[in-house]
Amino acid sequence: MERLVINGGNLLKGSVDINGAKNAAVAILPAAILASNGKCTIDNIPDIEDVHCLERILRSLGCNIVKIDNNTLEIDSTDVNNFEACTDDARRMRGSYYFIGALLARFKKAKVLLPGGCSIGVRPIDQHIKGFEALGAEVVIEHGAAIVKADKLKGANIFFDVVSVGATINVMIAATLAEGVTVLENVAKEPHVVDVANFLNSMGADIKGAGTDIIRIKGVESMKGCSYSVIPDQIEAGTFMIAAVATGGDVYIKNVIPKHLESITAKLTEMGAVIEEGDDSLRVTVKGPLKGVNIKTTPYPGFPTDIQQPMSTLLSTVPGRSLITESIWENRHKHIDELKKMGANIKVEGRVAIIDGSQKLTGAVVKATDLRAGAAMVIAGLVAEGTTEITNIEHIDRGYPHIDNKFRALGADIRRIEVEE
Ligand code: EPZ
Repeated sequence: MERLVINGGNLLKGSVDINGAKNAAVAILPAAILASNGKCTIDNIPDIEDVHCLERILRSLGCNIVKIDNNTLEIDSTDVNNFEACTDDARRMRGSYYFIGALLARFKKAKVLLPGGCSIGVRPIDQHIKGFEALGAEVVIEHGAAIVKADKLKGANIFFDVVSVGATINVMIAATLAEGVTVLENVAKEPHVVDVANFLNSMGADIKGAGTDIIRIKGVESMKGCSYSVIPDQIEAGTFMIAAVATGGDVYIKNVIPKHLESITAKLTEMGAVIEEGDDSLRVTVKGPLKGVNIKTTPYPGFPTDIQQPMSTLLSTVPGRSLITESIWENRHKHIDELKKMGANIKVEGRVAIIDGSQKLTGAVVKATDLRAGAAMVIAGLVAEGTTEITNIEHIDRGYPHIDNKFRALGADIRRIEVEE
């Protein structure tokens, strides 16, 4: 097993290139199955474990994949001949549920193991199922798998009960080849929802309204290959922004869409950090004292749940009381116990973390309890006095490409070690 070892205290300086968005890529790759002729050439794909998992699942379904380079795949789905994604890979990650929508759309049947992913609370898929059923599919959950089938799919009006990124994308994918028009309401508006819609439109789908409250999908007869570039990862960018502020550094965050980062930029600015926006980059520096702030996570364009854990590390190092209210997931404060081992003064009451900022964290052996918790631990290690060793970093590698190399290039003393368990 691998661990990350960090000797804290170095200021981060220089520039970092942000990779493609994990949560867009994990939907775009399964959606490539919709192309019944021609290849999808997709670039700016992050080189992360979740993507490697999806590649293996795509191959097991019969897709022909050529790896052009670490960030570019050419996927030929012409000969897909297996409609079951039931390997351990499907169970291991969350994004595998997009195979349900994609296989259902093209072949009218699918069997997919119920997905795994980060343990951050109950993660139901009832809204996905509600959408598939409204399109005319029959859905059965049996032996840990979702089995879906339909004679044909017909457009429908679907009003989601909760705003769900996964349900919005999955039902949008399923509706692309349905007969007639589908209208989705109370949808998620995250940048990756828009990115998946753009990808589907490049393949010949007819989707309008992604990024607003209502998405309208006019079913088409077939879809084809295309060339597409995944948008930059808003959460990877936010993580580096927070790390830059936490170390009091001076970092250019390159290959980003500043608009997607507005809620994070606004909070860091409120804390006292200085953020200068370029066309596709940000410069993050600290010129004066920082202060605590209150945060409530909400769907886009609000403050992203996926960045609150790294923020909790930063807030535990600045003077003053800060509150983080997690409104999306009921169990996303598990990393707080790890931060406390490093000296953080935080109390969790239900969904609220009450942080009394102190100035100093001290190195310890801590665990990455999930993906973003792992990022929070890395930032803690960067600012802590002494050495921090992070275990269970497979969670980090699922979603952050080469995080150690990127931080080392910015001046951090971070290395990966192999240990016998
Ligand atoms: C996506 O998860 C992301 N994962 C998560 O990122 C992210 O935290 C989340 O969206 C919110 O932004 C992927 O894209 C692979 P949801 P998803 O459906 O789609 C409830 C990360 O760190 N809900 O938007 O699974 C649910 O319980 C990961 O990169 C239902 O009730 O999240 C939650 O409270 C972690 N029924 C809320 O909606 C459903 O059918 C939002 O969930 C679906 C969801």
